[in-house]
Amino acid sequence: MSYISDKSVQQIYDTIKVEDVVGDFVHLKRRGINHIGLCPFHNEKTPSFNVSAVKGIFKCFGCGEGGDAVQFVMKIENLSYPEALRWLAKKYNIQLEEIAPSAEILEKQQAADSLYIVNAFAQEYFQSQLFETDYGKSIGLQYFKERGLREETIRRFGLGYSNGINSDLVQTSTGKGYKLEIMQSAGLASSAGKDFFRQRVMFPIHNISGKVLGFGGRTLSTDKKTPKYLNTPESEIYHKSKILYGISQAKKAILQENMCYMVEGYMDVITLSQAGIENVVASSGTSLTVGQIQLVKRFSPNLTILYDGDAAGIKAALRGLELVLEQDMNVKVLLIPDGEDPDSYLQKVGVTAFREFLQKEAVDFILFKTRLLLKDAKNDPMKRAELIKDLVESISHIPDTLKRSVYVKQCSDLMDIGEQILHNEINKRIASKLKKNLEVENKSDRQDSELPTPLEPGFDETSIFIPEKSRAHDFLEKDIARILIMFGNKELTQNETVAEYILINMSDIIDEFDSPIFAEVVEICIETLSAAKELKPEIFIQHKNPKISELAIDVISTPYEYSANWEKLNVFLNSQKMPDDNHVADAKSGILRFKLRKIERLMGKNQSEIKKVQDEGGNLEEIMKLLKVQQKLILMRGEIAKEQNTVVLK
Ligand code: GTP
Ligand code: MN
Repeated sequence: MSYISDKSVQQIYDTIKVEDVVGDFVHLKRRGINHIGLCPFHNEKTPSFNVSAVKGIFKCFGCGEGGDAVQFVMKIENLSYPEALRWLAKKYNIQLEEIAPSAEILEKQQAADSLYIVNAFAQEYFQSQLFETDYGKSIGLQYFKERGLREETIRRFGLGYSNGINSDLVQTSTGKGYKLEIMQSAGLASSAGKDFFRQRVMFPIHNISGKVLGFGGRTLSTDKKTPKYLNTPESEIYHKSKILYGISQAKKAILQENMCYMVEGYMDVITLSQAGIENVVASSGTSLTVGQIQLVKRFSPNLTILYDGDAAGIKAALRGLELVLEQDMNVKVLLIPDGEDPDSYLQKVGVTAFREFLQKEAVDFILFKTRLLLKDAKNDPMKRAELIKDLVESISHIPDTLKRSVYVKQCSDLMDIGEQILHNEINKRIASKLKKNLEVENKSDRQDSELPTPLEPGFDETSIFIPEKSRAHDFLEKDIARILIMFGNKELTQNETVAEYILINMSDIIDEFDSPIFAEVVEICIETLSAAKELKPEIFIQHKNPKISELAIDVISTPYEYSANWEKLNVFLNSQKMPDDNHVADAKSGILRFKLRKIERLMGKNQSEIKKVQDEGGNLEEIMKLLKVQQKLILMRGEIAKEQNTVVLK
């Protein structure tokens, strides 16, 4: 471990070109003096990712990510600053001048990185065992070659061999000064101080940036009593549920292809990758976890899962898939036929046929599930009903309203059942989920999903009094501003943009804005639209009023989350980090929320008015008048709440 000299750092900065570096990961098109492309840090369909060669920076107007070339590398390769510098030096063939660190720093570093360090050592050790010892060559290397792996592939995945004779790894490592306890913490040595892996071919398991976290070791013996694979036990750095085998080698291809294949086994990953299908990772035999899905999602929202095995196993696996749907991924599924796994099937049919197979046979998740289960159900009405319930349950896990509708349509066709019935069932489930969430979050909060009932005679005034929540109000104004800034120019209907819709539908309440800054956003919109100019986010970002540009940058760069204590249904709709594709429902529900708050505020005002008149012993007629106003407001609130439900759930 050593430092890069200041001179070398300067040299790196002088050499690198941001458009080159970014261009390795993003397909860039020239636009004027800048370059533009699809942002690799969030999912988008129209490019808002800008690279300025002159300024040496990149900036995404969709998600707010920005910085220079070094920061780009850090972010996309998940590297630390010095790691990114080394990465760039390698790319540009820059010879680095290194400075040795002090003994003190060295020790600290070793304590923090000790598990990574022993794992890296073990990986090199296993690899040299494989390539450089007689038994390694004749047993391990021979085995990999029999399974069709080329030497470059074996090296790319860092494969190795453990002999385990007389705890050779423990002996070698401690002989070099590595501490036994650290070998034990890393899962490389048993508590008795013996080698953990013995006589197995070794598959190092890397994190995103390529550091070794642990190993899988496959036995070569046919003895049924030894487990086929042995994996590193959970350690400080090896968390099974957050690991995807192959992610480090696959990430670039996943990004480029905008698709990730998920298989079950180590060998499946390696064989496919060797055949040029490099965007492949494995869940390593466990059922998928949220952590694993989120790893994939950093690089692409599109996931195709390759299953092998029998129908019963697949049915069980499908149950876990709802997790993937909840993460708002687009999931396709594919079944490897004839009891083969992806590795053996590829070897059997060849790359061309295999690729074609992937293209043709990958089926949308819901469709796959329907087909699979329909086989069992046939014409048994009970079983069909069960299946419909099952599908409805799956669909209700999809957060995106539009996607959900597509699935409902598909399901309706397949099962020959009315769309409305399916929608109703799904909405019921969503509503009950939301209710549950909210009960957990805030037991005392008012339930918006319960429509207010008209005033009963003899009502208790406290039953309708809703206290003003000023912070909540500010939040709603900011919400409207956010929608205008980010999605103002998006099409809502064929001849109406989001901004037009908002401005027209809010004309009666626009002057109710409390905060001058949000009111100014509205004014800017009106000005821009009146001048027939396009209402782009840049108009706000580059606005001469620094408060406006600050607000714009703030709303654009903060991942959007609602404070979750109100409007249950909308919370669900909008809880996605990037409500990009949701601007239609988003705009509509934003206005409704705003109106609702306004009405509630008027109710609050009116309520105190009633109380005041009562306290002053005011006349009955006056009180009656105020009560009628209150009743009208309650009805309006009910109407809006109703409308809200339709926006969200249709
Ligand atoms: P080959 O049989 O060599 O082709 O291996 P494979 O990669 O095809 O593995 P298989 O399909 O048998 O299993 C899929 C994955 O499940 C493996 O890659 C392992 O991650 C895991 N696995 C399989 N068997 C075991 C086992 O006995 N113990 C543990 N911990 N994991 C296993
Ligand atoms: Mn296999």
